[in-house]
Amino acid sequence: MKLKDTQALTSFDYSWLLKRIFPYVKPFLGRVILGFLIAVPVGLLDGVVSFSLKPYMDYVIGKQDLAFAGFIIPYIALAYAMPFLVVFFALIQGLLRYLNSYLTDWTSLKITNAVKNDLFARLVYMDTSFFDINSSGMIINRYLSDPDTASRGVVDQIKTFIISLFGALSLVVVMLYSSWKLALVGVLVLGVAFLPVFLIRKKIKSVSNQNTVIIGDIMTTMNETYSGNKVVTAYNLQERQKASFLRGINESFNVSISLTKRVGWMSPVMYLIASFGIAFVLFYGTKLIYLGHMTAGSFASFVTSLLLLYKPVKTLGNTLTSIQNTFVAMGRVFELFDYVPKIKDNENTVAIREIQEGITFDNVSFSYNSENTVLKNINLNVKKGETIAIVGNSGGGKSTLVNLLPRFYDVSEGSIKFDGTDIRSFKLKDLRNSISFVFQDNFLFTGTIKENILLAKNNATDEDLNRAIKASHLEEVIDMLPDGIETVLGERGLTLSGGQRQRVAIARAMIRNTPIIILDEATSALDNESEAVVQKALDNLTENKTVFVIAHRLSTIKNADRIAVINNGELAELGTHEELLSINDGLYKHLYEMQFNKVEAEV
Ligand SMILES: Nc1ncnc2c1ncn2[C@@H]1O[C@H](COP(=O)(O)OP(=O)(O)O)[C@@H](O)[C@H]1O
Ligand SMILES: [Mg+2]
Repeated sequence: MKLKDTQALTSFDYSWLLKRIFPYVKPFLGRVILGFLIAVPVGLLDGVVSFSLKPYMDYVIGKQDLAFAGFIIPYIALAYAMPFLVVFFALIQGLLRYLNSYLTDWTSLKITNAVKNDLFARLVYMDTSFFDINSSGMIINRYLSDPDTASRGVVDQIKTFIISLFGALSLVVVMLYSSWKLALVGVLVLGVAFLPVFLIRKKIKSVSNQNTVIIGDIMTTMNETYSGNKVVTAYNLQERQKASFLRGINESFNVSISLTKRVGWMSPVMYLIASFGIAFVLFYGTKLIYLGHMTAGSFASFVTSLLLLYKPVKTLGNTLTSIQNTFVAMGRVFELFDYVPKIKDNENTVAIREIQEGITFDNVSFSYNSENTVLKNINLNVKKGETIAIVGNSGGGKSTLVNLLPRFYDVSEGSIKFDGTDIRSFKLKDLRNSISFVFQDNFLFTGTIKENILLAKNNATDEDLNRAIKASHLEEVIDMLPDGIETVLGERGLTLSGGQRQRVAIARAMIRNTPIIILDEATSALDNESEAVVQKALDNLTENKTVFVIAHRLSTIKNADRIAVINNGELAELGTHEELLSINDGLYKHLYEMQFNKVEAEV
């Protein structure tokens, strides 16, 4: 699945989205509901000030005593009580507001973390081809930023929505209480003001989807500037990086401003509509007062409510707009949830057993995409304990062939078998636990050397560790470092030399002690001196194992039990060094004369 091509098709299917998010809300449902319930009085209390204007104007200003439930309350008492009441209600509203914010922030953070966790759990099990076709920036954006927008938004916006809704409702009630005729006008104005929100949600979605891609590109530029910093410096590519970054920023600007162009008029238009309403109300209200149908207090209450109404209405409008954003992000998030890796455990797995006979490539064909076939009908039997060297033209499919063993990719046709059992019937975890890889460039994690070795086997004893260090010739490296094995490596282990990094990687493979070892150009990037040490380490690693080795070094190839020549995806020749050399006009013979002789001459 290409993350860039997302449509977020489910973004407007609100019931589906809510059904998907609900399991994450459920554990905190009580608190979420409590938060929402508290939002109701917070909103309602908005009406208090305008509501109190009526008695204030009619009784206090008009010097009339108030008859209430059989009691006579003197206007002077009202006059003194009123200011205190205002503060009292503000205090209550403030306390509730705090409680409400705390509850909603707490729950939305919890929900967001749960969603992020689940999503990341899926990401780490994604297959290799997923990482082949998606950029790092896109992945960070879709797996980290989207869930933030999606799940934090939900609770927070519903809270804001409720507060504003009930704020608006309370004001409308005050208006109805003051004059129902005038209130009808107000409600009508309110209704009209909301219409545009639904007109623009498609635009919001398209802008959000486009922005996701653009921001993904920006993040990728950022990552490449980091990982490729040496090339950037060496080739003076700073301007190129700057330009690429600026391009992203500008694109994002254009996309966002196009939304503003579409959305920006909404607020002023709402305001304009509201002003018509107010104008009408002023006109009509004055008439009602003159005719004696309405008291001045009622009118003051009413107009204040109407004016106060603008804020919650505006917030409601904004919330409805940004909730669309949330839904679009949610659509994208749950789309990711439904993406299952192509490579996963079969329904019926069988236990993996130690290999007795060997590994068979049975008529294996493979292509990365439908365009060209990279491996064609490979038939190869590798006996247990055998070391098989794989040579051939560059781009011929050597790495691809060995990548099929731990199922980084699955064969397109044919099968790979351990003792006659298709590797697809093993648990992925077990299969991979039986194979160790040493590549040309081995990824080391941020952390100490010790941590990097032990991550291959966390229950390793000190003895295991020491043996692995010795066998991988890592001792002399560690001895040179001030912090020894506790030396903290830079990101990707770049503070070590190539040969040193390679030996850490070998120690890591060593401590796993797997029956199958794959070496893919493990020494190719090294100078002669480190190559010699690393080769010694590799010899220790591969002792008594079944080994696939892709190498340039003649002695490595010569020492292999057999050599497979992979030429343009086909197994062209197979045999011992002598056998292959004896083929007249043979590919191996040709390669040997061309390449290995030259390498040998250098050594
Ligand atoms: N991840 C990938 N996605 C698509 N094509 C790939 C990928 N990796 C390698 N290829 C292509 O497959 C072919 C074989 O590559 P590879 O197995 O790496 O060759 P070798 O290791 O023999 O040099 C090449 O044409 C290469 O371009
Ligand atoms: Mg290769």
